[in-house]
Amino acid sequence: MAADTLAHLLGRGAPRSPDRDSLEAWGRAVGAVLPRPVVLTFEGDLGAGKTTLARALCAGLGVTALDAVTSPTFSLVQYYDAPRGPVVHVDLYRLRSRAELDALGWDEIVATAPVLLIEWPERALETLPSDTIAITLSHDPENPGRRLLRVHAPSRP
Ligand SMILES: Nc1ncnc2c1ncn2[C@@H]1O[C@H](COP(=O)(O)OP(=O)(O)OP(=O)(O)O)[C@@H](O)[C@H]1O
Ligand SMILES: [Mg+2]
Repeated sequence: MAADTLAHLLGRGAPRSPDRDSLEAWGRAVGAVLPRPVVLTFEGDLGAGKTTLARALCAGLGVTALDAVTSPTFSLVQYYDAPRGPVVHVDLYRLRSRAELDALGWDEIVATAPVLLIEWPERALETLPSDTIAITLSHDPENPGRRLLRVHAPSRP
């Protein structure tokens, strides 16, 4: 399936202003049907729900060690076992330089990860494939328990 078709389908099925339970339910459902390889990015403020959604996607992908799906404090990259190949979870909040990315073997990670989930992708956007699917979460100003959720079609080269 073409990435823009996938993004369109995901966006159509996505709740606009989910509470935590409905965000997690959507994430699990999407995780169960994601094609591979796929790169998903998560943008949004501190506490917007990026890790919460990444964990739900992991659940749908069959990751059983869900407690391990956190915003890593010391490592930028975490790997989780899943039945159809590893899920790679990256949080670039603490990234300081392009050299730090290179030291991780970033291009190799991007090229080979079956499923790549990236929080705080802003500093690496130009390194990602053009069919990357971008997800934005933001606090719903009208309800503290809800988040505004958007799925963006890939940018065209
Ligand atoms: N509708 C919601 N969707 C997601 N999280 C919610 C929602 N309502 C409340 N929350 C709470 O908001 C917090 C979101 O934290 P989470 O770690 O997922 O955010 P984050 O975007 O990854 O933050 P950070 O930028 O610090 O990594 C959690 O404590 C979660 O329980
Ligand atoms: Mg996080």
